[in-house]
Amino acid sequence: MNRGTLHEQLKNLEMIFLLSKTDLSDLAMKFHEEMKGEASRNNSLKMLPTYLSAPTGHETGSFLTIDFGGTNIRLQFVVLLGEGHYEIIKSCSFPLKSPSGLYDYTSKGSSAEDLFYFIAAHIAEMVEAENIYPLGHTFSFPCKQLETNRAILINWSKEFKTSGVEGHEITGLLEKALAQKDLQNVKPVAIINDTTGTLLAASYASPSADIGSICGTGHNTCYIEPEEPSTGRPMIINLESGNFNKIPSTPYDHCLDQASERPGEQILEKAVSGRYIGEIVRLVTSDLIQQKFLFIDNVPGFVDIPNSIKAEDVTDILEDNTLSLSRISDWLKFNWEIDHSSLEERCALKTIASLVTMRSAQLIAGTYIGILHHIDPLLLSEHVIAVDGALFEKMPHYANRIQTTLDEIYLDNSNKVTLRFTKDGSGIGAAIAAAICISK
Ligand code: GLC
Repeated sequence: MNRGTLHEQLKNLEMIFLLSKTDLSDLAMKFHEEMKGEASRNNSLKMLPTYLSAPTGHETGSFLTIDFGGTNIRLQFVVLLGEGHYEIIKSCSFPLKSPSGLYDYTSKGSSAEDLFYFIAAHIAEMVEAENIYPLGHTFSFPCKQLETNRAILINWSKEFKTSGVEGHEITGLLEKALAQKDLQNVKPVAIINDTTGTLLAASYASPSADIGSICGTGHNTCYIEPEEPSTGRPMIINLESGNFNKIPSTPYDHCLDQASERPGEQILEKAVSGRYIGEIVRLVTSDLIQQKFLFIDNVPGFVDIPNSIKAEDVTDILEDNTLSLSRISDWLKFNWEIDHSSLEERCALKTIASLVTMRSAQLIAGTYIGILHHIDPLLLSEHVIAVDGALFEKMPHYANRIQTTLDEIYLDNSNKVTLRFTKDGSGIGAAIAAAICISK
């Protein structure tokens, strides 16, 4: 193996993956232009009105919530106590698959009826017939909100494919399934996006929270528009920023996009989110393997298996701080039957994982800078960016990397912008939205 050449390849990857300060400012500016609608026909941000604004913090009551947006669904009983306090009384989470694992409710072969009946059946196991349950529903896909309790799915994202849901009003589908299960005592009162939920959960306790974001399986951000044009009042806008497409991209991104369910869509999300970053790592590594810079005699099977490296694997690779990178060695052994790998090969794998995740954090920071420029160009006020999602919570150095990228731009003003991990915000926010809607 030519050490110098592998080194050069990795240096080259660094050049194409990492963003300079100028790249960042450029991205932030393009994002801001789209927020203002200046890119008009080419606008990739959906900017969806939610008809909700920040809570007062005094909302109280008990609510059932559905958090639907990834491969697992979560049902919870949330009690809002006011002044930013809440309790989760009961929580249950289940995959969107039949117990045998054979039937996948997110696949094209599954229907809206099957999917919502499946959810209603799980709700039936949590509730009692004699009680009434106001329900807040976090449905984390791009929706055209008709009002706070009615939303039409514009299109699926995150590789969901269930038939008969796109173009349909979601609360109606849920209500039908609840009626079939004889659950008239479960009353949907609000439907929101998970970014809105995260923002509501953070601003329930802290009035300076004005941006909500998800860095998990998917990626998206919402913010409070201080003066929404149709009402002249503050309103949370769901940017659907995962669809933003004015980012510097690499041949690997192109390849991933072409093989995806919806080429040309969700371009930012495909470069940054947990659903896709393992695949980018796989594509980059496979490229180096095919060019014979790595694993020359013993090619790991992931080269031929799309999506075989997951975000969890990337986390494990980056968590390996042993001198000999023994955890990466074990990963290669147990998952890919590579009994012998060199330290140089393991280092290369870790460098690739690190570049892909660093770029993800930088791109996301760039969009936050664009939003902050839109709502407070001189950065006169304090802003809390509430973030939920496994990538933000668990990926080594990820949250720090977003913060340092912001700090590098804001310098002396950097204390004005705080990232706040808002665990389970997307679910708790559904209870807050329900409380707001009931009191209207
Ligand atoms: C996808 C969805 C978006 C959601 C995000 C995070 O981007 O389109 O609505 O907020 O994933 O779950």
